[in-house]
Amino acid sequence: MPMPEKFVFVCINQRDPEHPRPSCINNGSGDVFNALREEQGRRVMTNVKIVAGGCLEACMVGPVMAVFPDNVWYGGVTEDDVPAIMDSLDSGEPVAYLRIGDAEFDLRPPEMSGGF
Ligand code: FES
Repeated sequence: MPMPEKFVFVCINQRDPEHPRPSCINNGSGDVFNALREEQGRRVMTNVKIVAGGCLEACMVGPVMAVFPDNVWYGGVTEDDVPAIMDSLDSGEPVAYLRIGDAEFDLRPPEMSGGF
């Protein structure tokens, strides 16, 4: 297997459901991760590594994932988005409707004044 050209980090962080900040696994990121891996296998995409990771800090818009070295970030990802994401990894053209940026990283639940 060749060295990967791209890494896709999928947040599968889990917090207590009572925690004011949501966590991606509670919003379906495990299913997204599994669907990405299955689609990767179907397409035999050996140049991409899909990695289950911890919190990526944009928790309010999870499930969150990041593509490197492209530095492309996605939020609100569902299993239905997986084919478009895999197409984008091939073409190099990000999936515009899923992209998140600085604004999403600044979001906090109203009951939290700063902590994690
Ligand atoms: S819990 Fe997924 S980005 Fe924070």
